[in-house]
Amino acid sequence: LENGLARTPPMGWLAWERFRCNTDCKNDPENCISEKLFMKMADIMVSEGYLSAGYNIISLDDCWLDHNRSESGQLQADASRFPSGIKALADYVHSKGLQFGMYEDYGTLTCGGYPGILNHLETDAKTFAEWGVDYVKLDGCYADPSEMDKGYPEFGTLLNLTGRPMVYSCSWPDYQLDKGIKPNYTFIGTVCNLWRNFDDIDDSWVSVSSIIDYYGDNQDTLIPVAGPGHWNDPDMLIIGNFGLSFDQSRAQMAMWAVLASPLFMSVDLRTIRPEMKAILLNKNVIAINQDPLGVQGRRIYKKSGVEIWIKSVEPISGADSSAAVVFLNQRTDGTPTRVSVILRDIGLTSLFGYNVEELFDGKNLGVYRPDDSLTVTVNPSGVVMIKCTVQTKESLISEADWNED
Ligand code: GLA
Repeated sequence: LENGLARTPPMGWLAWERFRCNTDCKNDPENCISEKLFMKMADIMVSEGYLSAGYNIISLDDCWLDHNRSESGQLQADASRFPSGIKALADYVHSKGLQFGMYEDYGTLTCGGYPGILNHLETDAKTFAEWGVDYVKLDGCYADPSEMDKGYPEFGTLLNLTGRPMVYSCSWPDYQLDKGIKPNYTFIGTVCNLWRNFDDIDDSWVSVSSIIDYYGDNQDTLIPVAGPGHWNDPDMLIIGNFGLSFDQSRAQMAMWAVLASPLFMSVDLRTIRPEMKAILLNKNVIAINQDPLGVQGRRIYKKSGVEIWIKSVEPISGADSSAAVVFLNQRTDGTPTRVSVILRDIGLTSLFGYNVEELFDGKNLGVYRPDDSLTVTVNPSGVVMIKCTVQTKESLISEADWNED
């Protein structure tokens, strides 16, 4: 969607995967879906460096609503869990320098059974603008997927007419695919800033791995439709929860970066372990995700559980671009696997060669020419992620000068 927003994949925090539809504030006041939870997460996003790393949106998900609209027909939050109301929560979030995300559903009900927007599209678009919403996730439960080609654009137009810029996140293609309808991605890309394509993520490597496979298996459809302003959305980052090992957490981060995926953490920022936090905050990996070219990476090799994924990134020199490369080991036989490639064989053919850097730990591996072989050792359900920065004639000359001194 060309609304000037989401020129790089949006980044933030989303409640769903970690906190679900926990409405039991009586017995579980610290973890229930309430304004307190969102205010606390907003505080931590700022104080613990997530905002400065780029995570600038904090978003509601399902189960924030009251079961009834107000007498004047407006959506309203559950008053016991959001006593100050959504406008006040959005104001608080803004006062922290963050943007505020909203969750709703195109159908009659949200997936959790709360009021949806159907038959109230205009009212609800206006309400979101009045509340100061910056980002709208519009789900697709309790709706007819064949109506979505009409309904999602209609609501997008209404959002636009409010005059308030709002990122528009759609679940449209996911629900169509579930019903055997082939999504018109070219069209969807003109209506939405991002869209879900596949199953909800759960807190396990099986789930992460199935998502990675889906994006690899369908890449010829999905890569061409991604770019600045319009992104495929493989769903939330589950790093820091219960289901992923350290290596699997790096693997999710690397893969979401190379896929130019939106980066929405869904984790308890109050209790996250430092090594998991470090993965989420890794500047080198985030920079690949946020690269201005906005290219979604491609799986160029898959054999015996070993995969190689590559994403073109800046800087560019002449016809050659730099590249992020992820070596992913999906073998389950439990020992690190050595992988060797000749740069030329993975499409890195610049005469001047590439400066190669390992990204998670920030190690410089030196300059490689197209016919050089590079070997990495990849842990089981883990990754090695490198950036190959294309060298210029100038950088070679200064290297030569240096050698002569
Ligand atoms: C759907 C969405 C999830 C989440 C839930 C909430 O399953 O895909 O991301 O929003 O609904 O009920």
